[in-house]
Amino acid sequence: MFSPPMRGVIIKDPNLQSSNQDQVEESILFAEPTEYVSELSWINSLDTYKEMYQRSIEDPEGFWAEQAEEFLYWKEPWSKVLEWDFEDPHFSWFVGGKTNVSYNCIDRHLHDGRRNKAAFIWESDERHSKVYTYQSLYTRVCRLSNVLKSYGIGKGDVVAIFLPMVPEIVFAMLACARIGAIHTIIFSGFSAEALRDRLQQSHAKVLITADSGLRGGRINPLKNMADAALLECPEIQKVIVVSRLQQRINMEPGRDVYYHEEVARKDIKRHCDIEWVDAEHPLFILYTSGSTGRPKGVVHTTGGYLLGTSITFKYIFDTHEDDVYFCTADAGWITGHSYLVYGPLSLGVTSVLFEGVPTYPDAGRFWDIIERHGVNQFYTAPTAIRSLMRHGSELPLSYDLSSLRVLGSVGEPINPAAWKWFYRVVGKERCSIADTWWQTETGMHMITTLPGIMTMKSSAAGLPFFGVQPIVITSEQKEAEIGEDGHLCMKYPWPSIARGFWDEVDNTRFKETYFSPFPGYYFTGDAAMKDEDGYYWLKGRVDDMLNVSGHRLGTAEIEAALNSSPDVAESAVVSFPHDIKGEGIYAYIVLKDGIVASDDLPARLSGLIRLKIGPIARPDVIHVVDELPKTRSGKLMRRILRKIASGTTDIKELGDLSTLVDEDVVEMIIKSRPKVSSSGD
Ligand code: WTA
Repeated sequence: MFSPPMRGVIIKDPNLQSSNQDQVEESILFAEPTEYVSELSWINSLDTYKEMYQRSIEDPEGFWAEQAEEFLYWKEPWSKVLEWDFEDPHFSWFVGGKTNVSYNCIDRHLHDGRRNKAAFIWESDERHSKVYTYQSLYTRVCRLSNVLKSYGIGKGDVVAIFLPMVPEIVFAMLACARIGAIHTIIFSGFSAEALRDRLQQSHAKVLITADSGLRGGRINPLKNMADAALLECPEIQKVIVVSRLQQRINMEPGRDVYYHEEVARKDIKRHCDIEWVDAEHPLFILYTSGSTGRPKGVVHTTGGYLLGTSITFKYIFDTHEDDVYFCTADAGWITGHSYLVYGPLSLGVTSVLFEGVPTYPDAGRFWDIIERHGVNQFYTAPTAIRSLMRHGSELPLSYDLSSLRVLGSVGEPINPAAWKWFYRVVGKERCSIADTWWQTETGMHMITTLPGIMTMKSSAAGLPFFGVQPIVITSEQKEAEIGEDGHLCMKYPWPSIARGFWDEVDNTRFKETYFSPFPGYYFTGDAAMKDEDGYYWLKGRVDDMLNVSGHRLGTAEIEAALNSSPDVAESAVVSFPHDIKGEGIYAYIVLKDGIVASDDLPARLSGLIRLKIGPIARPDVIHVVDELPKTRSGKLMRRILRKIASGTTDIKELGDLSTLVDEDVVEMIIKSRPKVSSSGD
């Protein structure tokens, strides 16, 4: 059972009936792993971890070569484990090796006794579930691969996927991988314009979408949005439509086809040969926010990516043959790619694919799924935990959550109160929590505690995974002292490091973003501190990125959307602390001359953001100001705007204002600041 925390950290009365106390309880808790978890842990002791870690950094090539042989099937061996350069960034892992992700995630399980095992259990929004075995996954993926081939799609072609969380999203990813096509998933919460931009940038030839998505009982008309986007995407030759709701929709003759009709075509066989590809063949492009308005198409390749996701999945979630794993992320984000699809399937694990939202039909939905499917590993985001915490502890306590063993958190630093609630109410003080720090660009988990063997510290991510070599660097380009804040960088590549941006041949922007700020290192964009035990504490982004409900958004893209309004002269977007979302979006707006702030302005601007990006980027606060604070050289002083957005009302607390053109601007902004609710109400 639960052992007392180390170093005198106090747990206040763990009153499980009330969430209120926990909400104010932000003191740090250290928790020791329990025997309940440790008796099954793959890595059986901290010493084993240390030995393996040491080996992984002293002889990275030897270590990763062994892992690649253990975790993956290779059609042809590699001739060199790693070629890399951080100056002129390029990375090649397992050079010359040939493999295939679809084979590793499906075919090999058919011969190793998992043919009739559930690959995943689809849990629909309406609370129906459907089981897909590895055999049925095989047939469905092969059929779709053959459909794509019949359109002339093959190795190196890009297929865009704009689907809700239906089983076909997994089939589509694996069908692409099977034939060497490159998938790019566009999150189904994005708008038509965001979809259009990504389709254009990726040069996709086929789009796989659905009539509509269904989440929390709400219908999201995806095909309508796709139609709008496709008006400006002439490169798309075919649109495959999953009929999720059997709606009557516009079907463009010659271009649009129904998924269920295509896979049932007489000429479509249920076997499709594997296209063996080079280890460095691109597997997917995933667009993520960058510091300019244009999203970055992060490229991940085959061998290294699959090895990274596979090994971390096994050791960090500590999954065993009969386990049921549940990741709540949408497949449209990197978490969905790595830990909903590729990690679990590469290991032949059973996972839950959930279409809906945590609060529908009520806030007990996750607990209901865990109880009904006997979930052993549950992976979610702090924002979801906080929003469920708000509903109190009665709901989770009324379900049988005793199957749980490992809990995972991802997306943003988890605050101690949320961590403790997760640990006590959901994990009953006996499960391990893996707070996994990583990024779209890292492809795999980088820093976390391993279940069963490492002390957990609420809100510290933990220790580096095998082969990961973090370093904290100060603004003076020196290694930070223990306990000192700095910039989190990496000293050495890992197998699933992003290989570049899709639309960039010379890697200039890739280099500028990650390798120029701290020469000789990969820069993560995050602030961090390393403590005396070697644990990393993540402190949020240091660049112009926002982290809203665990979703990464660039201030530049939201500003570009706001500035496209005929009423707006200029805008500045910053974050402010938000109880549920972690960070809320605060937009300062300067109106054009002659425009007055009408009552419907916030709604109109929100509507515009919804149209340009999607509902996730809608500002929580729109603050109309006369002018923005700028330096004499014309640079926007975001630091000041961030402080005001966070509630600072005393001008003396804003730090040095001497470089400002006009200090009165700041005073005016403070005076006109609207009342802000950060509780998510
Ligand atoms: C943040 C999501 C603290 C961080 C997997 C990172 C975290 C960005 C954590 C990447 C965590 C993610 N603790 N911060 N456990 N996980 N982050 O690309 O700022 O959507 O740089 O990948 O999320 O966001 P992305």
